[in-house]
Amino acid sequence: MRVNVTVNGEGRQADDVWEGESLLYVLRERLGLPGSKNACEQGECGSCTVYLDGVPVCSCLVAAGQVEGREVRTVEGLAEGDRLDPVQQSFVDAGAVQCGFCTPGLIVAAHDLLGRIPEPSDAEIREALAGNLCRCTGYEKILDAVRLVAKGGAA
Ligand code: FES
Ligand code: FES
Repeated sequence: MRVNVTVNGEGRQADDVWEGESLLYVLRERLGLPGSKNACEQGECGSCTVYLDGVPVCSCLVAAGQVEGREVRTVEGLAEGDRLDPVQQSFVDAGAVQCGFCTPGLIVAAHDLLGRIPEPSDAEIREALAGNLCRCTGYEKILDAVRLVAKGGAA
């Protein structure tokens, strides 16, 4: 089947999509957007998180056919050209990226949190990021990154 979807503000079309295919697969393999990562493909790790109509979802759990005519925003779509979004910049500045596999999903989740709650408490940060697993950082640097944006510390 053919899927028409707006991705990062641009109308895109994917052809030959099979019925069981995930949005994550379409983004990575058909539309050339490898930012969203494929770690578990079971909705457990959050590494594939994207916005779907403004709401963060695990794109591995969304069937491609479900996104027909809808809007997706991926981690690539947060930056403006070469200028990183403040959340992206803060992950760099805080040293919150090690292997980087969890990073795109965490950035989308943190971006959503800070859009809703510009100065979140630590409890609110932990709750918002609870669905995103990281095997490397011990999470403290990730919390620092979110705190940094909340304080206006990122570029
Ligand atoms: S790859 Fe989607 S939640 Fe892990
Ligand atoms: S930085 Fe490696 S999984 Fe998070």
